[in-house]
Amino acid sequence: MYNIMADMPTPMEPPLHPGTGQPCGPEDLAPIFPMNLIEQEMSTQQWIDIPEEILDKYAIWRPSPLFRARNLEKALDTPARIYFKNEGVSPAGSHKPNTALAQAYYNKVAGTKKITTETGAGQWGSSLAMCCSFFGIECKVFMVKISYNQKPYRRLMMETWGANCTASPSTETKAGRSILEKDPDSPGSLGMAISEAVEEAVADENTKYALGSVLNHVMIHQSIIGLEALKQMEMAGDYPDVIIGSAGGGSNFAGLAFPFARDKINGKQIDIIAVEPTSCPTMTRGPFAYDFGDTVQMTPLLPMHTLGHNFVPAPIHAGGLRYHGMAPLVSQLILDGIIRPEAIHQLETFKAGITFARSEGYISAPECNHAVAMTIREALKAKEEGKEKVILFNWSGHGLVDMASYESYFRGNLADHDLPQEQIDAALKDLETLPKPRQGK
Ligand SMILES: Cc1ncc(COP(=O)(O)O)c(C=O)c1O
Repeated sequence: MYNIMADMPTPMEPPLHPGTGQPCGPEDLAPIFPMNLIEQEMSTQQWIDIPEEILDKYAIWRPSPLFRARNLEKALDTPARIYFKNEGVSPAGSHKPNTALAQAYYNKVAGTKKITTETGAGQWGSSLAMCCSFFGIECKVFMVKISYNQKPYRRLMMETWGANCTASPSTETKAGRSILEKDPDSPGSLGMAISEAVEEAVADENTKYALGSVLNHVMIHQSIIGLEALKQMEMAGDYPDVIIGSAGGGSNFAGLAFPFARDKINGKQIDIIAVEPTSCPTMTRGPFAYDFGDTVQMTPLLPMHTLGHNFVPAPIHAGGLRYHGMAPLVSQLILDGIIRPEAIHQLETFKAGITFARSEGYISAPECNHAVAMTIREALKAKEEGKEKVILFNWSGHGLVDMASYESYFRGNLADHDLPQEQIDAALKDLETLPKPRQGK
């Protein structure tokens, strides 16, 4: 596994303790995570060996295929060569099992009996449920309420893999009850669900919490995507000019992009684009600031692009992209000019997903359609400019359990959500009293 911490152009600022505001030590994270994952979280070692037990299970679906999208190229009549890495081939249907497997394994080694987590669209929750079942660990998932209602099949996948799935905010935790008291109809958010999952983990020493994105160790586990892609592109005799991934907390994007970002840091010319929804514009409109990862301020403060821990995005169908923050590593690389963020409206992403489905056949998850839409924009730009660009994007997951969102699109029930500046300003007020990073804006 590759750890970009070793190659960062600017050293990372540390996470801060939520109570004292001082840099977090390993012991501060110990109530939440097992020590072997905390070590990875803080590691600056460039390469980390993948244990045999993980490799054995990866073999169920890895290496994932890299395809040339010749039919999409034809449909767009573009001179661009488009490649995509198909992470939808995992049993859970997305890239999320890459880290779920590693996290379940390291927890097992550390003696964890139960893992709690949050999930948006259900991709992460179902992935963790599957991997916990591989290692005989109990799994409890707090699922954002809007997604819980929109996506009953993901809940059933979690149950099939033996997990317990609860709609969040719930009455099962103090955090959930306090949120429901203020807003009984709250649609939920990833920030709220994280608060509930962390609260339950902290209450019992044999229970740990797992996060499906954002943190350094998740980016390390996902690097397998880019490492495979580097080899596969070499086999295809090509190298990407443009790399694209959708970004919710940043993990599928980073997984594909970081091994190539290493080449960019060392002088290669690559345009590396992270795509987010216009209705949750963390990277394109959120400042770089210290903020909590969750709504009720239990997690460490992370230096990241953020819309504020109380920001509740519009209920768009790309549930996995409705997060107020962004991985600190992705955020820092945006500041360093290695990554370029872009935001796209929901309707354009569905239109792109349908173009992709009608040319390549694959039906993408709504999150993944953000990467597809950006790829189509770049391919059409290459056509306009008459350039033979090589585009590589991460097809992060299939949408076969998300067909209700396609139905809403076909029936004309989806809208683009313009986010007024006042709403962002109001949510950012909560950051005023928090410590500021060196490069804060
Ligand atoms: C298919 C798919 N793509 C992308 C994402 C966004 O998450 P991340 O930015 O961590 O890759 C999700 C999150 O649930 C997802 O399910």
